[in-house]
Amino acid sequence: MTTSSLLNPSVAELAQHVAEGLRKTPKALSSMYFYDDAGSRLFQQIMDLPEYYPTRAEFAIFREHGAALAAALSPGAGQAFSLVELGAGDGAKTKLLLRELLAAGTEFTYAPVDISSGAMAGLVDTLRRELPALRVAPVVEDYATALTQLRTWPGSKAVLFLGSNIGNFGPNERLNFLRQLAAPLAPADRLLIGFDLQKDPRRIRAAYDDAQGVTAAFNLNLLTRLNRELGADFDLAHWQHYTDYSPLTGAVRSFLVSTRAQQVRFAALDETVAFAAWEVIHTENSYKFTPAQIEALAAEAGLLVVQTFTDAAGDFADVVLAAQPD
Ligand code: AVJ
Repeated sequence: MTTSSLLNPSVAELAQHVAEGLRKTPKALSSMYFYDDAGSRLFQQIMDLPEYYPTRAEFAIFREHGAALAAALSPGAGQAFSLVELGAGDGAKTKLLLRELLAAGTEFTYAPVDISSGAMAGLVDTLRRELPALRVAPVVEDYATALTQLRTWPGSKAVLFLGSNIGNFGPNERLNFLRQLAAPLAPADRLLIGFDLQKDPRRIRAAYDDAQGVTAAFNLNLLTRLNRELGADFDLAHWQHYTDYSPLTGAVRSFLVSTRAQQVRFAALDETVAFAAWEVIHTENSYKFTPAQIEALAAEAGLLVVQTFTDAAGDFADVVLAAQPD
């Protein structure tokens, strides 16, 4: 990896990740790298798909329970606080909450955190136009960096982690992540985490393999990104999107499938990687949860479930959490 030191820091990180991930058995890349500007736009399209229910379900929760959510997250008694959102995206759901907080005269600063600078610029722009009274402090960072910053964040805070982003973590990572979120919480601080719930396995699978092929394009865009940023030569004609859901583990797993034996050259890594026919790259996990699993996970992470909000169909849960008193 002598060449990576010549690359800019974020590309060097990607290069390092890809070199390691493609040496694993099975080969794996992190879904975190889906979200370049094209990937963020494709995810916007996914959220409008008829099969992709999670966004609409969480929207319904925010529409129906916006005032109760705002109250559950505010420290109360005119106290100022920061509303930190990890992975803000387009902030469409959050706007419902922001409106409730502004209407209640709550004093707060909204601090959206997102790794896509394009998505962040768009969000800040619409917020300035639609909610001119809102104080916004954007943070363009990955979660790990944002979590470190959170430890020294002044004042009371509520941290949002919506959209079932928590589903992208494996069991160990998920627990570590929640423990990191729990550690700096003062008694009045709150977390709001969106969990996609287990349901008809066919509905879940369809949400990740839509008829229009937008999810396929989203997954395959990762290869386009590697072609551009690492000088790779993936031929997209010989790669497929494939996804499965196991009701035993609650995991949707997404793969890029090599449809023939092929070699891919990475100029920036000075490496060539061989793929056998039908070999896969595992690119994403999207875990689905039961209410009992959520309770157990919270307890293990040092958190208490304060309140759970669900949509009428019971598809999705937004869970308000606080630190366990010691
Ligand atoms: C943004 C992580 C919540 O896992 O449901 C959508 C990403 N991947 N379709 C999810 C995604 C394929 C999404 N999250």
